[in-house]
Amino acid sequence: MTFPFKLTAEQILQFHLQGFLSIPMPISPPEELEWLIEEYDNLFATHAGRAEGNQFDLGGADDDENNASLPQILNPAHYAPRLNEGIYLQNANSIVKQLFGPTASAGVAHAIYKPAGIGGETPWHQDEAYWDPGYQYFSASIWMPLQEATVENGCLWFMPGSHEWEVLEHRPIGGDIRIHGLEMTDLTPIRNPVACPLSPGAITIHRNRTAHYAGRNVSNTPRRALILSTGLPSQPFPTHRSFPWNEVKRTARDERAVAAKL
Ligand code: NI
Repeated sequence: MTFPFKLTAEQILQFHLQGFLSIPMPISPPEELEWLIEEYDNLFATHAGRAEGNQFDLGGADDDENNASLPQILNPAHYAPRLNEGIYLQNANSIVKQLFGPTASAGVAHAIYKPAGIGGETPWHQDEAYWDPGYQYFSASIWMPLQEATVENGCLWFMPGSHEWEVLEHRPIGGDIRIHGLEMTDLTPIRNPVACPLSPGAITIHRNRTAHYAGRNVSNTPRRALILSTGLPSQPFPTHRSFPWNEVKRTARDERAVAAKL
């Protein structure tokens, strides 16, 4: 494994022109992926973070911890500190400095699990739609599967150039305000999206407004993805804007978070 991980000029240009980049060479060696999978599966098996709202069903009503179709854990390294060690994080940090400059760093942000056979689809969305509309962002997410990611088990798809769009209208998935996950309400701008299958430990990187999607997991093995975040510090947004799709949500996850604080 080469370290520091060196991007080509073409890769850096592609990231800035298209709003995403797929890097085929794994940033995590096989022996590291083995222990990452152990830590990862344990977090979901033990429902780590669920009581305080940090583990929930991204794609459903989140009322049954054992039957989530798209379980997600925020800040998994808080529950499994070993995730903060590892070669993948060093390589990710080397990569983001080449894309965002020397002050950028990458940290473990969340984990999204698509169970074998029942793992639900992650509808088209822009990540910024989840965030505080009072800020402008120059950031990116790094998506690393712990096993092969294929079209069949739910690899990511991207819409080239969509990082230049405004944040388009979103709504909770299916219009159900109990669901944390968001989806774009109008898919007509999605034309000729690009699927990005990956080897274990390889990555894609996408910007905060890059529209992306992942299909259902129709394979017979789980699809595990670890997501890192990076970028430059956010700035106050210059004008007023609001994301009403977040204000209407009434999620079980938020209820648990409030109850845990009391
Ligand atoms: Ni996303």
